[in-house]
Amino acid sequence: MREKLQKILDAARREISSTERGDYESLRVKYLGRKSELSLLLRQLGSLSPAEKITLGSLGNQIKSEITGLLEQLKQLPVEGPLKNFDPTIPGITQELGRLHPITQTTNELIDIFQGLGYDVATGPEVELEKYNFDMLNIPADHPARDQWDTFWVKQVDGAPDNVLLRTHTSPVQIRYMLEHKPPIRIIVPGRTFRYEAEDATHASVFYQLEGLLIDKGITVANLKATLQTMMHQIIGPDVKIRLRPSFFPFTEPSFEMDIWFQGKWLELMGCGMVHPVVLKNGGIDPEKYSGFAFGVGIDRLVMLKYNIKDIRYFLSGNLDFLEQF
Ligand code: PHE
Repeated sequence: MREKLQKILDAARREISSTERGDYESLRVKYLGRKSELSLLLRQLGSLSPAEKITLGSLGNQIKSEITGLLEQLKQLPVEGPLKNFDPTIPGITQELGRLHPITQTTNELIDIFQGLGYDVATGPEVELEKYNFDMLNIPADHPARDQWDTFWVKQVDGAPDNVLLRTHTSPVQIRYMLEHKPPIRIIVPGRTFRYEAEDATHASVFYQLEGLLIDKGITVANLKATLQTMMHQIIGPDVKIRLRPSFFPFTEPSFEMDIWFQGKWLELMGCGMVHPVVLKNGGIDPEKYSGFAFGVGIDRLVMLKYNIKDIRYFLSGNLDFLEQF
């Protein structure tokens, strides 16, 4: 028994002095726990002669207090032991940094450009009422122009308002903003828009637009053209050439498509025009006193042009090989 006790002490000295702070608890259990060798031995003392009981008992207690002392020292060590085995030449674990989506980057650029021109940024709901998306923009229910915007309608449930849809363009924010603000008005509206489309390389059901609206006294097409020119210069480059081509939108009169000269041909980029008097009236603004222009550009389109991207479906694909290029 004496030998066994001595062996336990030797083992404990060796092990405890060569380990780290983190091992404290497991060593305490191993050497002093209820099921430790030492505890089991001391429990056998009862079966010994009274003389042995005294000598071995006191030896056992000495050993126990020495081990307790060793463990106490271990506990005092700093939690992170000295940097043993640390090789500063091994490459570290790098943290992958995220980045902004190319559409967000270009949207931010557009916001910067227009804030420089004194515009505010306005927003509106993506789930919109038919009256703002169509009716008040001078597109009545039976108007053939509605065919131009293939719409996702939201199913009616009890108590929900009538005729809810996913906005097909950012133009409803024109009405919402006019109803809440008096001219002069100068806003851009970046946002997500939805159309029920067969998707292909140039058509997505979910896409992004930037609406612009300026209303003041004496605004003409010249102001519209100068604004679009400034915007395209800043976003594409100083060599960009633009033109306005007659078009039709129920909420502008006259209406235009703005084309840009790109890789040897004219490319249609956005709809625009002078805000229709009916739309001004619907927004609570007197068309005799005020006039204004509006435009709506596809942000996806702009990004595709800027970086020569051939397929719009990349944007929402979550494909890192694509996204990490920006
Ligand atoms: N809302 C139109 C569209 O999505 C674009 C537009 C906006 C046209 C403002 C004229 C004025 O097609």
